[in-house]
Amino acid sequence: MKILDGRKISNQIKEEIAAEVAKMKERGEKVPHLAAVLVGNDGASLTYVGSKVRSCKKIGFESTLIQMPSTTSELELLKKIDELNQNNDIDGFIVQLPLPDQIDTQEVIMAIDPDKDVDGFHPTNFGKMALDMSTFIPATPFGILELLERYKVDTKGKHTVVIGRSHIVGRPMSILMSRKGWPGNSTVTLTHSHTKNIKDIVSQADIVISALGVPNFLKADMVKEGAVVIDVGITRVPDDTKEKGYYITGDVDFEDVSKKASFITPVPGGVGPMTIAMLLKNTLLARERHRS
Ligand code: GUN
Repeated sequence: MKILDGRKISNQIKEEIAAEVAKMKERGEKVPHLAAVLVGNDGASLTYVGSKVRSCKKIGFESTLIQMPSTTSELELLKKIDELNQNNDIDGFIVQLPLPDQIDTQEVIMAIDPDKDVDGFHPTNFGKMALDMSTFIPATPFGILELLERYKVDTKGKHTVVIGRSHIVGRPMSILMSRKGWPGNSTVTLTHSHTKNIKDIVSQADIVISALGVPNFLKADMVKEGAVVIDVGITRVPDDTKEKGYYITGDVDFEDVSKKASFITPVPGGVGPMTIAMLLKNTLLARERHRS
């Protein structure tokens, strides 16, 4: 069994990006600038956005964090997005999800200029992804592809089972794994809450990608010997004995499943850090596109 070490690979990617930024500086060019909009004060979202902004600083990007109160109206947020669309200094921006209930997430995503949509959530970018065109690939699926590539995991002709059909992870992942090329060329089954016999389907998978958010959902008896197991779940479990008052756990019963898997991602330290690295990569790409 081999660990797909997202922490190590994400650090490598960040070093590669930092080297590009250093070259840009040497040439006297503008460095990439990422903005992040956070509406409300959801604890997990605050942590993620804080981590994204800190990573920007580390690798030499400019960053702007825009915090708006949880009572923000859709119109106010759309105005902010318009400002960011118009601001030539900003190469890319994200609106952290989930948004408060009074705001229609799809309306917000559709308001983002596709050329600045470094999350790859806009229908134009999502469509381009499905059509094999050059675009911003959503950071979490992009990070999983990068892990598979850097560990030279064979995906051609393999049966990939994706658990969960979210717009951010499961749906794009199912498209990407079925695309031509590598990592891809896989036969994909996308499972969700209405899937019958999910256990049987998952146990036939050569590659399992679980993005469900249910701790310890995936047990050893659901996994084929030698399967590649990617755990996208990040759940905060309350625990008073921990300094933060919680611990982080994935969808996969790691102890058990790692005994059968050929490759497996840990939680934390697997897919999570890759998401941030690939967001930075998309921002670098946005800068390069805006330059030319
Ligand atoms: N919430 C959870 N994951 C993501 C992500 O990748 N991007 C944004 N904008 N919000 C998220």
